[in-house]
Amino acid sequence: MPVLFKNEFYHHAVPRINEALVQRAADQLLVSTGMAEAELSILLVDDQQIAELNRTWRHKKGPTNVLAFPLTEGEDSAMAMNLLGDIVISVETAAREAKQEGLSLHSRLQVLLVHGFLHLIGYDHEKSDAEAVRMYNKERMLLQELTKKRRETMIKLAVNVDHVATLREARGTNEPDPVLAAGICELAGAEGIVVHLREDRRHIQDRDVILLRQTVKTKLNLEMGAAKEIIKLALNIKPDMVTLVPEKRKELTTEGGLNVAAQKQKLKKVIGQMNDAGIPVSLFIDPDSRQIKAAKDIGATFVEIHTGRYADATREEEREHEYELIAAAAEEAYESGLRVNAGHGLNYVNTARIAALETIEELSIGHAIMARAVIVGLDQAVREMLGLMI
Ligand code: PXP
Repeated sequence: MPVLFKNEFYHHAVPRINEALVQRAADQLLVSTGMAEAELSILLVDDQQIAELNRTWRHKKGPTNVLAFPLTEGEDSAMAMNLLGDIVISVETAAREAKQEGLSLHSRLQVLLVHGFLHLIGYDHEKSDAEAVRMYNKERMLLQELTKKRRETMIKLAVNVDHVATLREARGTNEPDPVLAAGICELAGAEGIVVHLREDRRHIQDRDVILLRQTVKTKLNLEMGAAKEIIKLALNIKPDMVTLVPEKRKELTTEGGLNVAAQKQKLKKVIGQMNDAGIPVSLFIDPDSRQIKAAKDIGATFVEIHTGRYADATREEEREHEYELIAAAAEEAYESGLRVNAGHGLNYVNTARIAALETIEELSIGHAIMARAVIVGLDQAVREMLGLMI
């Protein structure tokens, strides 16, 4: 199995990556080429480091994207131990190339990994035209295997109807009714209804959840903090699933993901209680490998990846970075066997890219749909959003 080394970058502007994804791609490469027992090492470096290696070993000036150092034939003991050699990738160059090609950084890293790997096992496009074609074909075939389509069904939209209740509560009357709104969303094509029953009952009320349980035909997802009183209610009402979120009284909306790693015991207990009642649990988390592992460890069925920082980013670079984190987290969670949803802050401009991630099953969207519904009507607002999610 490959060993992944990550050097300390000299350069602090190098984008963060999810090493587990690179590791997994390398594992898969070895399996697809029938070398599951072999070992290789991967060094992720910055431009300055790869330029030094390029100068020392190839007498070439400047950085490059990938270098491969196969173990030479003389190294019999290494060959006997199935050691293939080292692949060095500059994450900085990979990020530049990803941008030029309109790919995610992790997709570009995969291309470079495959390229370096083929050099390690003896392919060399610089030898002759025929060899270049042979290497190109093999590269394409391996990349196709690594990037096989995963989602067999279309991505689903779950509409959060909290803000219909916000409008009702603004006057303390009985309209507009989130129960009626939920029906309209379902008729327009939503495949789930989400409500957040907050401890302060600022929008959704107990009555709403009770009625929605009876009327929702698709799937009722109850978003909630892990507070005793709400847990008891959820166990009585039995929604189709619950999504656990951190909840603060003073926040305008959920501000970030749960710190699952820091409260594993407590959350594990809630998951156990819900599962015993036949209710699957989703944990709302930031796109962070540590939280994914913790969610998997304590038996969550789903994670919902927080897309808020991606949605709120004002600079393109920042948005790209947040997008990469979401793409990588969704991939990691999916690969670990978790089901993956995403949401928060998604709107008519930023949703399409997230919906295109094949590891994500469902998006949970509220505010943007309700804001548009005020102008164009709820049915149309839901249909327009669905039209973007292809
Ligand atoms: N997912 C979670 C966990 C949330 O807390 C919210 C907000 O209630 C959403 C999704 C929907 O976010 P938005 O209203 O910004 O679409």
